[in-house]
Amino acid sequence: MKRVIVTEHPLIQHKLTLMRMKDTGSKDFRELLTEITMLMGYEVTKDLPLSEIEIETPVMKTKSKVLSGKKLAIVPILRAGIGMVDGFISLIPAAKVGHIGLYRDPETCKPVEYYCKLPQDIGEREVLLVDPMLATGGSATAAIELLREKGAKNIRMINLVAAPEGIEEVHSKYPDVDIYVAAVDEKLNDHKYIIPGLGDAGDRLFGTK
Ligand code: PRP
Ligand code: URA
Repeated sequence: MKRVIVTEHPLIQHKLTLMRMKDTGSKDFRELLTEITMLMGYEVTKDLPLSEIEIETPVMKTKSKVLSGKKLAIVPILRAGIGMVDGFISLIPAAKVGHIGLYRDPETCKPVEYYCKLPQDIGEREVLLVDPMLATGGSATAAIELLREKGAKNIRMINLVAAPEGIEEVHSKYPDVDIYVAAVDEKLNDHKYIIPGLGDAGDRLFGTK
């Protein structure tokens, strides 16, 4: 319960440093996020169950392991979460993708929902909820609430950078949701931005600032 898994692999930490630098442009930012997502994917999928099937190699018949049919759904929180979809899809091509549209109101910093489209059988799927930033935790908890309303049972959250405040908020409401993160930063500033952080992930990904 209340598991936070910090993925401290040197490649992830190196690439995250490049993403944090203010002069890193959108193209590099996007590519680095995809690369980090794939590296984090190794840790996130480490416990997927396997079963053995009979196969024939060019040399002989043998038994070999395959993923044992656990169905997955990748659910990005729009917009910035979109930047983590390609990395996961390339690792798990059979996964379905749902979308939850939320933006943080600039005045109140509270999440506003504007879109939700999930796979119909979301209740039978292991959900990977992805968003680069976990700041106050408002967007994450709103997304988890929506997923639960639609029947999702098993949810794991994957963030690039989290503030301690956001982790605390998610786990106070949903202690069973494991949080995978590349870095837990110091805190939130007065504008509820993560510090040191990397700025506005959505704007940096899509070049909107
Ligand atoms: C960012 C980020 C998270 C949210 C985190 O999205 O991608 O969804 O803020 O903040 P919180 O933990 O305080 O809710 P934003 O609202 O800026 O929308 P965008 O992805 O469309 O830019
Ligand atoms: N959203 C972001 O993109 N960055 C932050 O630091 C906080 C919320």
